[in-house]
Amino acid sequence: MKRLSSSLFLLPFLLLAFVYSLFFPNGFSILPSLARCNNNRNNNMPATGASMSTSMRLANAADQAPAVDFRVLLGVVTRAEMYERRALLRLAYALQSPPERAVIDVRFFVCSLATEEDAVLVSLEIIAHGDIVVLNCTENMDDGKTYSYFSSLPRLFPGDEAYDYVGKIDDDSYYRLAALADTLRHKPRRDLYHGLLAPCHTDPASQFMSGMGYIVSWDIAAWVAETDSLRRDVKGPEDEVFGRWLRSGGKGKNRYGEVTRMYDYLDGGMKDGVNCFRHALVADTVVVHKLKDRLKWARTLKFFNATQGLKPSRLYHVDL
Ligand SMILES: *[C@@H]1O[C@H](CO)[C@@H](O)[C@H](O)[C@H]1NC(C)=O
Ligand SMILES: *[C@@H]1O[C@H](CO)[C@@H](O)[C@H](O)[C@H]1NC(C)=O
Repeated sequence: MKRLSSSLFLLPFLLLAFVYSLFFPNGFSILPSLARCNNNRNNNMPATGASMSTSMRLANAADQAPAVDFRVLLGVVTRAEMYERRALLRLAYALQSPPERAVIDVRFFVCSLATEEDAVLVSLEIIAHGDIVVLNCTENMDDGKTYSYFSSLPRLFPGDEAYDYVGKIDDDSYYRLAALADTLRHKPRRDLYHGLLAPCHTDPASQFMSGMGYIVSWDIAAWVAETDSLRRDVKGPEDEVFGRWLRSGGKGKNRYGEVTRMYDYLDGGMKDGVNCFRHALVADTVVVHKLKDRLKWARTLKFFNATQGLKPSRLYHVDL
């Protein structure tokens, strides 16, 4: 009797998991890694996060997912009106194979919503995807968003919800999550700064983090949050500002660059030439930047074999 009632209790969850797996065989949006590996920490993202972790936890019990070594919050710092870009990024990340033994949560960070349409449409995205964070900042201010971003994190993800690393990435950058996880796996979890040190081949003392994307350990975000003087030191290109902060505070001593694996997009149709931070796509890419239009995204995603998952069907033909 007892066994019967407990299996009856499980039935709706199993059904949910089954229906879920029918509709979203590869997980959903950019959250699969969150759900898959969210072993023993809570996550406060609403909606999809919650329903997914139920079904994924059931799946987990079945296939004994390997333990998670570390967790990364990859914050795409963008603007509310970038709807199409977010749609592309969700697709791009949902279709990547997830990193092994690491959780990488991709989230979009926007400043306070300023128009009636954004208030409604961003709300709908949050309901559907649960992957947007609205910071308290104003979008027309070009200084201070980096400060708002890093200084909010410890409050937004307190205690158990904290990550090991946090990235700040452009919305025209495409990270390859498995490659990123592999580069971070054996690196220090504290006082770390990982990105493309620019300008290339110059004195490290004057280098700064290229704005395409960089990753720091969580203690650095906590340090930004508790260092009030940084709030007033926000003038200038934001990646330079961030480099200046770290130098002034003696932070980020464990510094790693990924020259050749982090670069700006280049293809034959462009007038730019190859240099130390710009070249054609390469297989071991960690991040490619300056994906400014649909064609560049399309070529990049095709290069990384994102289209290989397309199954033949009489319902469509996609060849030109
Ligand atoms: C924005 O400010 C409000 C009110 O001060 C606060 O409750 C909220 O947590 C803040 N949000 C972020 C993302 O910092
Ligand atoms: C894409 O797939 C092809 C064929 O399987 C393979 O040769 C190539 O290395 C893959 N490209 C990348 C970037 O992984």
